[in-house]
Amino acid sequence: MEYRILGRTGLKVSIMGIGGGGPTQLGQKTGVGQVGVNALVRRALDMGINFFDTAAAYGESEVILGEALKGLPRENYVLATKFHPAKKGKGDVVRPDDVIASVERSLKRLQVEQVDIMQFHGVRPNQYVETMEKLWPTVEQLKTQGKFRFVGISETYGDDNKHEMLPMALKDDLFDTAMVGYNMISPTPEHVILPMCEERNVGVICMVAVRRALSRPDYLKTQLASAKSRGLIAEDSLPEDDPLGWLVRDHVTSLPAAAYKFVNAHPAMGTTLSGTANIDHLEENAKAIVGPPLPVEDVERLRSVFGNVWEPLGN
Ligand SMILES: NC(=O)c1ccc[n+]([C@@H]2O[C@H](COP(=O)([O-])OP(=O)(O)OC[C@H]3O[C@@H](n4cnc5c(N)ncnc54)[C@H](OP(=O)(O)O)[C@@H]3O)[C@@H](O)[C@H]2O)c1
Repeated sequence: MEYRILGRTGLKVSIMGIGGGGPTQLGQKTGVGQVGVNALVRRALDMGINFFDTAAAYGESEVILGEALKGLPRENYVLATKFHPAKKGKGDVVRPDDVIASVERSLKRLQVEQVDIMQFHGVRPNQYVETMEKLWPTVEQLKTQGKFRFVGISETYGDDNKHEMLPMALKDDLFDTAMVGYNMISPTPEHVILPMCEERNVGVICMVAVRRALSRPDYLKTQLASAKSRGLIAEDSLPEDDPLGWLVRDHVTSLPAAAYKFVNAHPAMGTTLSGTANIDHLEENAKAIVGPPLPVEDVERLRSVFGNVWEPLGN
């Protein structure tokens, strides 16, 4: 494994982390039980992965992760979780007491006294200002009490196509980390967000490097055909069949492998989450991310096709 310093947190993190949400929700949606997740977490640690992300909103993900990490020396891993600043994710901004309750519940479920990073979960652009006015003082107070060491914020992937929320947060300069929706068919964070993170030394956590489109070939074909028919990408930019198959050659063994290599190569990148609960996939992903990057000409071709597509095609 390779390690990087996660921006101003100073934390030394593996370039691949485990994501406890997404389509699998740490195996809750794919039938991997607690025993399977225990094995996944053990294998991850054996491979040198030390970063684990979860959220209060990911079903039982915090409980499962807490159980899998139980008994390990706390300094052996970096733990990040989140609270939802809006009711049911999309509704009104919650009350400060709701944040306190969510943080206390997360610590209990994770079976720890403190997490390393507490993140505002999926803040929408139109709610950012109200969220900060209402909740920031409480978050600061909880930090002072030692409930967490650093504060991060995540954008939504799918509801904030223009990536409008994170630039507001980065300008405020209060956050230690930013979780960014970035992948090789949604590379638009390269325009503003990633350079801003680099400039301000904010630790970048990449989510959705693979997600659905880059892990399900039929779905990818449908997504890209639709993008062509809507004029988002040029008709002749990619073949109809196996549209990204040209990326899989030499040391690039699969599309997910290409996807991890792509995001990891950005100089702003701290750690890239893999939301898999499948040990074989995790091994493949970790091998890809530490291996050589994509050839320059392939990266250029990806940027020429997708560089200005603001819709989250990779969802
Ligand atoms: N707003 C937010 O805060 C937010 C939003 C989204 C995600 N996140 C965080 O970011 C993490 C990562 O995002 P994500 O889980 O949505 O996306 P992801 O990790 O890019 O993709 C996960 C999907 O890819 C599949 N996959 C992974 N490696 C594979 C491989 N080698 N071969 C085939 N399939 C593979 C997984 O299925 P298998 O289990 O079968 O491998 C799963 O369906 C989440 O778990 C969560 O922690 C945060």
